[in-house]
Amino acid sequence: MKKVMVTGAGGFIGSHLVEKLLSRGYDVYAFDNRLLNDCLNLKEMIDHKNLHFFKGDIRNMEDIQNFFQDDAEIIYHLASTVGVRYYMRDPLSLIDITINGTKNIIELCIKKNIKLIFASTSEVYGKNSNVPWKEESDRVLGDPSVDRWCYSSSKALIEHMLFALYRTNKLNFATVRFFNVYGPKQNPIFVVSQSVYRVLNNIPPDIYDGGEQIRCFTYIDDAIDGIIRVGELSKADGKAFNIGNQVPTKIKDIVNLCIKESKKNIEINNINTNDLYGDVYQDIINRIPNCEKAYELLGWKAKIQVNIGIRKTIMWAKENPWYLQQVI
Ligand SMILES: NC(=O)c1ccc[n+]([C@@H]2O[C@H](COP(=O)([O-])OP(=O)(O)OC[C@H]3O[C@@H](n4cnc5c(N)ncnc54)[C@H](O)[C@@H]3O)[C@@H](O)[C@H]2O)c1
Repeated sequence: MKKVMVTGAGGFIGSHLVEKLLSRGYDVYAFDNRLLNDCLNLKEMIDHKNLHFFKGDIRNMEDIQNFFQDDAEIIYHLASTVGVRYYMRDPLSLIDITINGTKNIIELCIKKNIKLIFASTSEVYGKNSNVPWKEESDRVLGDPSVDRWCYSSSKALIEHMLFALYRTNKLNFATVRFFNVYGPKQNPIFVVSQSVYRVLNNIPPDIYDGGEQIRCFTYIDDAIDGIIRVGELSKADGKAFNIGNQVPTKIKDIVNLCIKESKKNIEINNINTNDLYGDVYQDIINRIPNCEKAYELLGWKAKIQVNIGIRKTIMWAKENPWYLQQVI
């Protein structure tokens, strides 16, 4: 039986990835800094005979060494600080966790000759206005005093290191740049998850500055299909892939869709970011991927339309009261 490792396994994408890998017959070694019982996203899999869970912190080399399996082929590395509110509050966590924690993972992958799949982000393109973005498109960031780019820069720094290590034959890797992934089990602080959580709890959902911003919302099943192809197919080695839906949707439209699919009659709460944050806030108007590379090399493209994805997310939330009852 093939062994794979997953960090950030108790999170949104990690838990779906673990579930899919188990269903594909892998022996899955899962790592998270929370206790297994606290990772409610994994509760359906907790007793699976092929799931081996390790609690630890990627900042701690000893934890990582205890977790690492010498005969594993791949590690999917997802553990990271995720969410603007967390890294605005604690920007140094991006150095400690996303950069130094990943450095620990990289060192062991080099030592044990294990392929590393790194979860990067569409944020690496910054505010490049020339959409759709190809993987080779420029990063456009502007002024370093704008806080939001610290997450983008931490992920991009790791990507630089990975490409350099690959070119010098020290490490095999591939990276996925996710575009607005949504679906069941997501921390309810992102556009879709927050809207579903709030609407089903009869709280008005927020939009920022009228919600005219355009995003490409990617249903979790498509994202998991993408990252697994990147892990399993050698054609992906040494490359970055945009993993995103290619259909652009305005944020206000997706929030309205959450309201409509929930069959609720509820107003939207519009937030003026200039009043709230002043000049330091910067948003991206268009975030659209070009995914031709993933299609040509891996046969991957997003298939699930947003109305179907939102419906599935709402149905799941209604069936899982713990999700709607959590305090955020
Ligand atoms: N969800 C998206 O739309 C999206 C978009 C772009 C990139 N990503 C990337 O995908 C990955 C997964 O994102 P997600 O949405 O599942 O986030 P998530 O917050 O749900 O999951 C992250 C997991 O990492 C764990 N973790 C955090 N710090 C850790 C540490 N020091 N040691 C061990 N575990 C730690 C957390 O406990 C959590 O379970 C992240 O690397 C994120 O940057 C996600």
